[in-house]
Amino acid sequence: MIDKAVQDARGVSDRTPADRTVAVWDLPLRIWHWALAACVLAAWFTPTVYDRLHRIVGYAVIGLLIFRLVWGIWGSRYSRFRMIGVRLRAAPLYLWNLRRGITGRYIGLNPAGTLMLVALLLSLAVSAITGALSVTVTFFGVWWIEDTHAYASDAVIVLVVLHVAGVVGMGMLQRENLIRAMITGRKRIRRH
Ligand code: HEM
Ligand code: HEM
Repeated sequence: MIDKAVQDARGVSDRTPADRTVAVWDLPLRIWHWALAACVLAAWFTPTVYDRLHRIVGYAVIGLLIFRLVWGIWGSRYSRFRMIGVRLRAAPLYLWNLRRGITGRYIGLNPAGTLMLVALLLSLAVSAITGALSVTVTFFGVWWIEDTHAYASDAVIVLVVLHVAGVVGMGMLQRENLIRAMITGRKRIRRH
């Protein structure tokens, strides 16, 4: 057995479950995530039928995207965008290895998750900005703004489906409840 003092010095202990987990997602990021999910789903089901609500949640998405950019600079370790470049470059090989179930162990987003983060943020930005433009005097009724809004929104939903499938699949491969981690903010400490 490892000496308790050594364990404590490493910040690892087997005293309580909380000691065997590590803080990953800070509270603002978790609130941001679930607020974004709620707004995007609401936006998806409301065009034409509940136009007013559609626009309100759409503007909320713009606000949430701006917050995420700020939090990418000032948030805690795993909220920051510092590693995005490195992770994106690792993404092709990572996805290739996934076919054999090799996932590697990442505490924050893995390369596939980082790719999804970037794809979601970009498609959401295009969708929400063209949506907002389509109700301005200048761009009202302009076909390519409306078309871009429709296509970008379709892309968002396809990505969200892939995202949820990815989160569930990755959770099963790694035997870790990633969805719970996005609620509690903590992941298990593991050595592989
Ligand atoms: C419209 C819906 C959604 C959007 C736009 C969305 C977007 C995102 C984004 C951008 C991230 C990266 C976090 C970061 O900013 O660093 C993320 C992470 C995550 N999301 Fe979602 N999400 C959505 C729905 C969901 C749903 C329904 C679930 C659960 C069933 C979910 C579970 C997660 C989990 C577990 C992570 C962390 C992944 C990890 O641990 O590697 N998301 N999501
Ligand atoms: C991420 C945020 C958003 C999503 C996912 C989204 C999604 C959608 C979808 C799926 C449609 C139907 C497109 C079609 O097939 O023709 C639509 C239409 C529309 N959206 Fe958005 N939207 C968002 C943000 C916005 C914003 C911010 C505004 C304006 C303030 C807006 C204004 C409109 C308008 C005017 C239409 C045309 C139909 C209608 O009058 O309801 N959207 N949106």
